[in-house]
Amino acid sequence: MSQRSRNDPVVTLDRNFWVVTAGFAVLSIVGVIFWIKFPITQYLPAAVVEADEIDQLFRFLAASSTVLFIYVVGYLIYFSIAFRRRASDPPDAIGVQVHDNHNLELWWTIGPAIFVIVMAVFSVRIWYGIEVNNPGNGLTVESIGHQWNYTFRYPGVHGEIPDAMHLPVDVPVTLEVTSTDVIHSFWVPAMRLKADMVPGAINTLRFTPKYPGTYAIICTEFCGVNHSVMDKQTVVIQRRADFDKWYSGWVAKTKNVSDALPKVGAVAILLTGGNAAAGQKVFAATCSACHAVGPFAQRIVGPGLKGVLHDPAHPTLVDGDSASTDNVAKILRNGYAGSMGQMPNQTTNRLSDKDIANLVAYLDSLK
Ligand code: CUA
Repeated sequence: MSQRSRNDPVVTLDRNFWVVTAGFAVLSIVGVIFWIKFPITQYLPAAVVEADEIDQLFRFLAASSTVLFIYVVGYLIYFSIAFRRRASDPPDAIGVQVHDNHNLELWWTIGPAIFVIVMAVFSVRIWYGIEVNNPGNGLTVESIGHQWNYTFRYPGVHGEIPDAMHLPVDVPVTLEVTSTDVIHSFWVPAMRLKADMVPGAINTLRFTPKYPGTYAIICTEFCGVNHSVMDKQTVVIQRRADFDKWYSGWVAKTKNVSDALPKVGAVAILLTGGNAAAGQKVFAATCSACHAVGPFAQRIVGPGLKGVLHDPAHPTLVDGDSASTDNVAKILRNGYAGSMGQMPNQTTNRLSDKDIANLVAYLDSLK
């Protein structure tokens, strides 16, 4: 039964069409063989066992993209030449219009749907094998993202190790990542694994180191002005004996270190010597986008700050602490999040300790 509507013209594909189609098939076979043979690890070492499967997925995706590219772009070029407007055509000529070809529509729906399902099954199986079915009885390590470096925590080592993440070969690792400030990410191209480091959440990667070596860790989440330098630290995969030596060194070195995470703003800022005139400049450059030099009720984003230290109607600050210079400095240092909204901390606002001392002197001078 013909699917063509009665009004559609008969379109025939001539011999040239089948010749180029055969040509695309040959190119596609070459492309697929290229990706099957491509020596990925010559360009990017595979440091962990799991990298092999992810490389297989990459080969599959690269090969199918290549075939799609050859056919889509190939026909685009062929048709634009074969069905170009001839000099003999009238100026308002339009090409052959085909409507409601059910066969065509059926197959261009079924084909991509099958392809997407195959892709989904392939990648979910690999993900499941790595993240769910992987043995978790080896070493558990934590990495914490900071602006702008990574630190590492090991069982038995107190506090955070600030330099490199050392791992022994052939021991399954469960890596748990999080962040203390903004969203970072933990990406090791040589491991083919990546996880976002999100404040308040823990993401997990499971893998087994295979080849000793030193591999870069890269942050791929824009995390502030020094995001671009978060690629200096490394994962060091070592033979068991070398790892044990490194590990026991840190156990000894940190014997008396506290396990508590360092508190932001734990160090007081020296406020004496703050300069009100310099503070006024910092205020104009940094604070005035959100704060007016007016009464408390004059809100821009945050409250007006005139008299923040000398307003009998507001004896406490927005965080409930009494209105003292030290407590104002504390908010400038740590930022604020609460019923009045949010203010970024010292790092995000790019304030030096001296800026804070000057700002406090300036705010203190507003009566
Ligand atoms: Cu941390 Cu980008």
